[in-house]
This record gives sequence, structure tokens and C-alpha cells, in this order.
Amino acid sequence: MNLNIQNKNALVCGSTQGIGKASAIGLATEGVNVTLIARNEEKLKAVLAELPKGNHSYIVADFSNPSELKEKIEASNLNFHILINNTGGPAGGPVFNAQLDEFERAFTQHLKCNHVLVQAVVPFMKEAGFGRIINVISTSVKQPLDGLGVSNTIRGAVANWSKTLANELGQFNITVNNVLPGATGTERLKEIINNKAAKTGLSVDEVSKNMMNASPAKRFAKPEEIANAVVFLASESASFINGINVPVDGGRTKSL
Ligand SMILES: NC(=O)c1ccc[n+]([C@@H]2O[C@H](COP(=O)([O-])OP(=O)(O)OC[C@H]3O[C@@H](n4cnc5c(N)ncnc54)[C@H](OP(=O)(O)O)[C@@H]3O)[C@@H](O)[C@H]2O)c1
Repeated sequence: MNLNIQNKNALVCGSTQGIGKASAIGLATEGVNVTLIARNEEKLKAVLAELPKGNHSYIVADFSNPSELKEKIEASNLNFHILINNTGGPAGGPVFNAQLDEFERAFTQHLKCNHVLVQAVVPFMKEAGFGRIINVISTSVKQPLDGLGVSNTIRGAVANWSKTLANELGQFNITVNNVLPGATGTERLKEIINNKAAKTGLSVDEVSKNMMNASPAKRFAKPEEIANAVVFLASESASFINGINVPVDGGRTKSL
């Protein structure tokens, strides 16, 4: 299939590792010019050096500060056809124990920053007559995950924000879709497994096996497998797919 996105420009958030990095590589492999965003400049430079040939760059920004993000993004060229909203997941724990500032931090990092970026890039997308906004969220929007209380809560907000935007922007050939990763072999997953092992007294291996067995695929996803869905949704070929959640979880979610 010709994805037909050569020479388009993409802003890929949380792209120093994991799903964001795999998405940046996947898009660059299709001939897209990629601008990476994350906090760690050394890692950004390293990923930039790994990208296939193209007009790539990076922005250093911390999503705990939406005003600073707004300034930094507005200082860039803003000619982005594709926006991949992605950042680090909130800390785990039961929702009952969550402190108010945990919700506030997660809302800022996930929803407010996504919104700042959308407001910055949509004027060019409208002018270009082409826009793809993809939010990397979680399967918890369909089925809340045990021990990820703040995350479950915030993902729901992002999913509904996204669906509302899809309704508003579809008329401009701008689509807004969500990719919902299942357990994927990244630093985030390692952190979740280590925390579960510490809390339950099970070994890291036992926790990993239990998590793998929760999916019909009986394994974790590779970041590239999530990125493949991101790249497809970013393409011309996905032109009539708008306002949906795409679980990429090996069948783990127990609902349609
Ligand atoms: N892996 C899974 O099993 C899984 C499953 C479901 C959902 N998800 C969700 O999918 C998303 C990506 O997951 P992942 O596993 O790829 O995560 P990851 O390995 O932890 O990577 C997170 C990325 O976000 C960046 N980031 C973190 N905090 C940031 C901040 N305050 N400002 C700017 N950038 C920040 C990190 O770069 P810097 O540190 O350089 O800033 C990094 O590039 C997360 O929301 C995660 O919760 C993951």
C-alpha cells in the first residue's frame, strides 16, 4: 500500500524512547520530515541521528508546563500536517489513594498540552487541506486497568476531547484518532512491572508472565507494532477514518 505521506511534516511527542520513538522512525521511513519533542536533549539528538534521511529536527520541552510548550511550539515553523500526541504515563496506584495534585499534573501533561499543540498546528492543517492528529492513549478508555487509577481517569478525558475535536475538524480533512496500546515492551512497562512486583511480592518474571497471559497473543507488543497503527492513521490511506479508538493490544481488551 502506498501511504502517500512523503514530504509531509510531523510533530512527534515523547519521541526519545518507546512508542513515540518508534512512531518517529516509522514516519521518517515513509519519507515524512519529523520534529521530535521531549525533555532530554541528549536523547533527542541520539534519536535524530537514528532517523532515516529527511529534514528532521527537535524541540526540547517539558509537558508539565503548557505555557512554555506554547511559546516553544509557536517559535517553530508550525507547518505540521501530522501531530502525534504522546507523553509519559502517570504514576500507578489505586484511584482511591490518588492525591488531587496527581490528577492536576496528569490533566496538564496529557490534556492541556495536547490542546496547546492542536491549537498551534490546526491553522496550517486547514490551509494545507490535510491534517492527521493521533493521540497515543491506552486501552483503559475501553476497560479501566487495575492499579492505574489516575491514568484511567485522564485517558477518558483525552478520549472524549479527541472525539469532540474529530467532530469539529473532520470537515477540513483533518482526522483525529486514538491509538490504544496494550502492554508494550518499553521503559514505561518495565516501571509498571517493577512496581507490581514490589507491591505483590511476586518476582518480575512472574508479573511479566501474568501480564503476557492476559492477552490472547501471550506476549508484549513491540513498540514498532504500535507505531505501525500510528503511521497508517497518519497516512493519506486512512483518509476516511475519523474519531475512533484503535486498540493495538493483541486482543487483550475484553470488549469490542
Ligand atoms: N508501554 C505500554 O505498555 C503502554 C500501554 C498503554 C499505554 N501506554 C501509554 O503510551 C504512552 C507512551 O508509552 P511508552 O511506553 O512509549 O512510554 P515511555 O517509554 O515512558 O516514553 C515516554 C516518552 O515521553 C517523554 N516524556 C515523558 N514525560 C514528559 C514530559 N513531562 N514532557 C515531555 N515529554 C515527556 C519521554 O521523553 P523524555 O524523558 O526525554 O522527556 C519519552 O520519550 C504513555 O502515555 C503510556 O502510558 C503505554
